This record gives sequence, C-alpha cells and structure tokens, in this order.
Amino acid sequence: MTIDFIRYLDAKRFIDDRSLNRHVWQTLVSLLDERHTGPLRILELGAGIGTMLDRFKEWRLYDGQILYHGVDQQNTEVARQRFSDGTRTGDRVTARFTEADVFAFAAETQDQWDLLVAHAFLDLVHIPEVLPDLFNLLRPGGLFYFTLTFDGVTALEPPVDPELDKRIVDLYHRSMDTRIINGKPSGDSRAGRHLLHHLREADAVIEAAGGSDWVVMAGPNGVYQGDEAYFLQHILHFFDEALRGQIDAGTLDGWLTARQRQINEGTLIYIAHQIDVVGTRG
Ligand SMILES: C[S@@+](CC[C@H](N)C(=O)[O-])C[C@H]1O[C@@H](n2cnc3c(N)ncnc32)[C@H](O)[C@@H]1O
Repeated sequence: MTIDFIRYLDAKRFIDDRSLNRHVWQTLVSLLDERHTGPLRILELGAGIGTMLDRFKEWRLYDGQILYHGVDQQNTEVARQRFSDGTRTGDRVTARFTEADVFAFAAETQDQWDLLVAHAFLDLVHIPEVLPDLFNLLRPGGLFYFTLTFDGVTALEPPVDPELDKRIVDLYHRSMDTRIINGKPSGDSRAGRHLLHHLREADAVIEAAGGSDWVVMAGPNGVYQGDEAYFLQHILHFFDEALRGQIDAGTLDGWLTARQRQINEGTLIYIAHQIDVVGTRG
C-alpha cells in the first residue's frame, strides 16, 4: 500500500464535513454576524492542504471579505496550488500559506487575528503549555474555533479478537499520551475534554461545544463513499506506526491484515470521538 498523507487529508475532508458539529459551527457564524464588521482576519494552525478554507467558502462562514492565513510545517505548496487555480479567483477570499512550525511562527509574529482556527491539530500538542502563546495570536475579544480534537474513544467493528483489539486500541491511545516531539510531551488521547478545562483556566469564554465524531462505514451497497477506503487504510497505517515495536510483529501484521480484509469486504466500521469548541478569548 502506498502511503500518501495529502490523499488522506483530501479523503478526510468529506468525512469531516459530515462530522463537524453543526451547533458549534452555527454559533461561530452567528457570533461573527453579530460582532464582526469589515475584513475578517483568520489564522489557521496546522492548516494542512487548506480544506477548512474550502469549507469556509462553501458553507459561507462570513459575508464580508476574508483574509485567511494558514500555517503548517509541510505541504503548503500543495495548499497554495489548490487556492490559486482559475476556479478560485474573483471571490472575497484572500488566502496565504506559510510553511513553518506554528510555535516558531507564534514567537516571531507581532500580528493578531480576529479568528484563530485549529482543526484536527490540538491533540498533537501539549495544550496547557502552548495555549497562552497561541492566544497571543488572537486579539482580545477575538474568536477561536478548535475542532476535531480527539477525545479518547476509538472503535473498530466488527471485532477481530476482542482481547487483542482492546490491547491494540489501548496501546494506540498510550502512544498519544507518551508522544515526545522535540524533547517535549506532544498530545494526549483525551485532549478534547482536557481542552475545555484548559480554556477555562485561560479565562476564555466557551460559547458552544459538542461532539464531532467520525463514523466511517460502507453504504447500503457495501461500498465506501468517495475515498473512504483509502482513509481507513491510512488509519491502519497510523496504528502500524504507533504499535510497531510495541507488540509482537507477527501479531500486529495478522491484525492489520484482518482489518485490511474488512476494508476490502466493506465491513469495517471505524468510530473516533472528537470535540469541537467555539469561544472568545478573555
Ligand atoms: C491531522 S493533520 C490536520 C491538517 C488539517 N488541519 C486538516 O484537518 O486537513 C495535522 C497537521 O498539523 C501539522 N503540524 C503538526 N505539528 C505542527 C507544528 N508544530 N507546526 C506546524 N504544523 C504542524 C501537520 O503537518 C499536519 O498537516
């Protein structure tokens, strides 16, 4: 199997579209409508290939002008290409992407934005330590929209071997709890619920919060929609990366093969619990 992170993000886009919490989204749209006039300056952390910007345009986040800035440590060339093709010119959105580590970017910039976005990103970082620096990127009274923060539940159905399934999911979550990047703890398997506490401790006002779970399963014809079969294969790749060396290689390979067979047969159901939150910087 060829592993392609860009293809994964592209496939994920349509799963995220149906998973994002509509109450939280609608609260964001209403708050912008009530509170904001003039151009809306948005900063997105860990923007990937820019699929959240696609959504802002298609779902009509804001009626006025949008000045969007995406930061990611990789793939910004792809993001730039996606937003400079002929079909996307002439609208009210100006997009810019910077390839950088978001913490280096936060340390260097003097700018502040009206809306800070992090989608499928905050579970990769040590939130209590980085939140003050990230909030410095937001003007006082500005809004944050933090979505798809993983929150402790991974389910794969039907079972392969209930005992082994549980062991593998527990180890997968533990790999998030013990992840070290650049010598620092990075992420946590219950980041979604912990984020709510950290936001309160940072004097942020939580305006709305809700679940945005992924539920990926084949349709009534037994076929996955869009590129969901690839998305599921990529999730197996994440398991492989996290567990290789943690359990016996033959056991892991056997489990991955059984799960791949379920994808091929259209029987694998994958569920991940995630949380969305919108609020105001205090
Ligand atoms: C799970 S992906 C989500 C991407 C995008 N938000 C989406 O949902 O399509 C996480 C992204 O965060 C980026 N990332 C992780 N740590 C980063 C850091 N310290 N600085 C910049 N980008 C980072 C990765 O490169 C990756 O593109």
